[in-house]
Amino acid sequence: MNAHPIALPPGATLQPGRGGLERLVVDTPACVGEIYLHGAHLTGWQPRGDAPVLWLSAHSVFEPGRPIRGGIPICFPWFGPHPADASRPPHGFVRLAPWTLERVTREADTITATLALAVAADREPLWPHDVALRLEARFGRELAVAFTVENRGTTACPVAEALHTYVAVGDIRQVTLEGLGGIAYIDKVKGGVRAVQDVAPLTFDGETDRPYLGTEAAVAIVDPALRRRIVVEKEGSRTTVVWNPWIAKARAMPDFGDDEWPAMVCVEAANALDDAFTLAPGASHTLRTRLRVG
Ligand code: BG6
Repeated sequence: MNAHPIALPPGATLQPGRGGLERLVVDTPACVGEIYLHGAHLTGWQPRGDAPVLWLSAHSVFEPGRPIRGGIPICFPWFGPHPADASRPPHGFVRLAPWTLERVTREADTITATLALAVAADREPLWPHDVALRLEARFGRELAVAFTVENRGTTACPVAEALHTYVAVGDIRQVTLEGLGGIAYIDKVKGGVRAVQDVAPLTFDGETDRPYLGTEAAVAIVDPALRRRIVVEKEGSRTTVVWNPWIAKARAMPDFGDDEWPAMVCVEAANALDDAFTLAPGASHTLRTRLRVG
């Protein structure tokens, strides 16, 4: 719980969520949404009149120290397994940490929540840096998320990061992704080989796990089953990760239902692998993603 309660505008309420974890619930004429303070993890956004845009597993765990499966996990300060020590939490430790809700404001029917997390240099032995993190989530007819890292230490810090967005789809086998044609990627399912995406839109017929590198392009998720198109735009991001676990990997994950894989696709605004960067002392960087039903 926050030590000092903050003022909430109409349409925003703080309430216990699943597992008793605290969450901010947004309910306005523009949309409904929710964000957990645990991990500053956005778990829902549904513009009025549309189906839910974010996917959340019915099998997700909601426990301190465990990641939520679905929504928008924040991956930081590394992406995937830690490169030197696989015993460290995959995708970093900030999605596991309790954040503080700093401010909630409303402008017309848009509600903006700002959450913060201070990371001290002794927090993680393999990443000894002092940084201030901020997550700003703007819930309206569009969803806009901004993740800012400020290096408050005296040494440069290495950063790999992602807003690991899980989008709900009708059936992944019918989905096409536009916007990645001609972009180089790493195919993690094929042992990390590098390839270049065809000009034709990306389709799915098996496990897909691909960081697309050096791209700032928007991606459109074309979903005939739900008869909609979701546009994912981004800024401050050079990597777009596309992920669907398909059958075997979904079965192997305890917090992912065996039959849930057709209903999701991750399109992640990231800076990872070749696009990871170093933040100088005093510098800050913001990674943004924006979703709309178009
Ligand atoms: C994706 C990675 O972004 O996240 C995948 O590219 C990974 O390799 C997936 O399996 C889910 O990660 P996690 O740690 O949330 O199970």
